[in-house]
Amino acid sequence: MERFDAIVIGAGAAGMFCAALAGQAGCRVLLLDNGKKPGRKILMSGGGRCNFTNLYVEPAAYLSQNPHFCKSALARYTQWDFIDLVGKHGIDWHEKTLGQLFCDDSAQQIVDMLVAECEKGHVTQRLRSEVLSVTRDDQGYTLQLNGDSVQAAKLVIASGGLSMPGLGASPFGYKIAEQFGLKVLPTRAGLVPFTLHKPLLEQMQTLSGVSVPSVITAEDGTVFRENLLFTHRGLSGPAVLQISSYWQPGEFVSINLLPECDLASFLDEQREAHPNQSLKNTLAMQLPKRLVECLQQLEQIPDVTLRQLNSREQESLVELLTHWRVQPNGTEGYRTAEVTLGGVDTHELSSRTMEARNVPGLYFIGEVMDVTGWLGGYNFQWAWSSAWACAQAL
Ligand code: FDA
Repeated sequence: MERFDAIVIGAGAAGMFCAALAGQAGCRVLLLDNGKKPGRKILMSGGGRCNFTNLYVEPAAYLSQNPHFCKSALARYTQWDFIDLVGKHGIDWHEKTLGQLFCDDSAQQIVDMLVAECEKGHVTQRLRSEVLSVTRDDQGYTLQLNGDSVQAAKLVIASGGLSMPGLGASPFGYKIAEQFGLKVLPTRAGLVPFTLHKPLLEQMQTLSGVSVPSVITAEDGTVFRENLLFTHRGLSGPAVLQISSYWQPGEFVSINLLPECDLASFLDEQREAHPNQSLKNTLAMQLPKRLVECLQQLEQIPDVTLRQLNSREQESLVELLTHWRVQPNGTEGYRTAEVTLGGVDTHELSSRTMEARNVPGLYFIGEVMDVTGWLGGYNFQWAWSSAWACAQAL
């Protein structure tokens, strides 16, 4: 049976980085994945350009039942460390918006960089590898694979969450955690579009593809100021993806479709200057025409001139456009979600090394654990930081 110092399961962002660093530090590392290629999610990410980190990474941008857990790793391996690594590999990047850093060229460059780092660490890589069982004894961990068995003193689980099963996602990491007595918190899809109830969806059919700046607020008071996109299934765009991680079934979200305009003052000014201008044309100066037409068809916008608009009608219009209360039917689920909320309870792990407190030699890194970042490069930064912290301990 072949023996290694450490086996890393999952050749995604966290697993590849951890294997590379441990290998470069002198460990004999085996990196396993069930897929044909390493880093499949990286290749898909950021529209093919990988939003690999964020200039403004801070613990407050992460959801976890244990909000302090992520602090140590994020402080010890920062966005600047990863930017430095990317620079050393000659990868050009740009900031798109809100501190989000993307490759100028392609996400493939990040995968190639991680592959090169693994090669530098002489990491043995086995793709298309199913782990049939994991057992632990005095020798460490023995893994039964499809074909043979392998053994190592240390086992790192980097198998990710449940989002996008088409890209190899599996509950493997949660099962291993449970096998070794670790608590796994309930999981749900995060950074995911909302679906709407049929009547509302039918009313908004014509809006598919319309994007507007918005401020969106969850019932717990969390607020995001980003674009909202109407789709043929419901609502999406960065504002909705962000708030979806803070939304629970049955709850409402409140949407301001005119965050950059004081609508009441704008209407008063326009009325003063152009009393015979139609309300519809006035609103179309601030909102996409298709949205105004849809709201008029739904009789939410009265067919009147500004002079004819009475104060009660104006108040309800302002309320509708700046505090639109929507109760989503649900989310599109793991099929399209970018991340999985919940997972291995971080109370079970050391925040310094990611090792299970009560199971020596067993580590969890990346998305498999209950640490989930905002949209915008925060999740990859967690993969890099948690992988780095773990690699120091292998
Ligand atoms: P990851 O999912 O990357 O890797 C897990 C690996 O384990 C996979 O290779 C999988 O095949 C393997 N595996 C699973 N089960 C296994 C088993 N039983 N046996 C062997 N191997 C197994 N984040 C961000 O910061 N910026 C971005 O631009 C994006 N964009 C984005 C787009 C899309 C479409 C998605 C789905 C997600 C994003 N994300 C993102 C989120 C980001 O991709 C995610 O948080 C990280 O990839 C998590 O890294 P991990 O290494 O933990 O898991």
